[in-house]
Amino acid sequence: MKQLTGKTKNNIAVFISGRGSNLKSLIKYSKLKKSKFRIKLVVSSKKGANGLLHAKKNKINYFVSNYKIKKNPEKKILLLLKKEKVKIICLAGFMKILSPNFINRFKGKILNIHPSLLPKYKGLNTHEKAINNRDKYSGFTIHIVNKKLDSGKIVFQKKIKIFNSDNAKLLENKIRKQENKYYPVVLDKLLN
Ligand code: GRF
Repeated sequence: MKQLTGKTKNNIAVFISGRGSNLKSLIKYSKLKKSKFRIKLVVSSKKGANGLLHAKKNKINYFVSNYKIKKNPEKKILLLLKKEKVKIICLAGFMKILSPNFINRFKGKILNIHPSLLPKYKGLNTHEKAINNRDKYSGFTIHIVNKKLDSGKIVFQKKIKIFNSDNAKLLENKIRKQENKYYPVVLDKLLN
């Protein structure tokens, strides 16, 4: 089968705010010959985000948007996305809410990874909620971003068993490992 060359890969951007383990795994996968995407831009809502190290190390353009100071932080981001001809945006731990205008501009082209089995546990502290409610399973969801928080069309879900010995931290780590494994693969499949 004909392999995609660098030229035919889809340009994507990854938005982060923290650790960046999903960014790291997306970068790793993007370097495979078979991958259908390449990362052209990393956007961080936090200056010191650890994930930025992965962008720097891999010489990927990055932009830190200071949401606290900027009146319209998305203006510059939109310009950069245009410049880099970005077709798909992957949110990976991005802790800011995108405006309806922004979402409209990339309608159906923004993916998010959320650490629960949506529609259960939208928002924050999903692992604590799953543990406190004595759920038997948790997991993660990859979905299209729409204007409502954690509510867009689900494209992939992975169920993970919760053991009695699990606490929120252990569960978080277990789920994140699986997120890292699946996010690039699911994205790649969607680009088919
Ligand atoms: C992940 O658990 C993801 O589900 C959530 O934020 C976390 C980001 O982790 N949206 P990382 O920064 O990719 O390590």
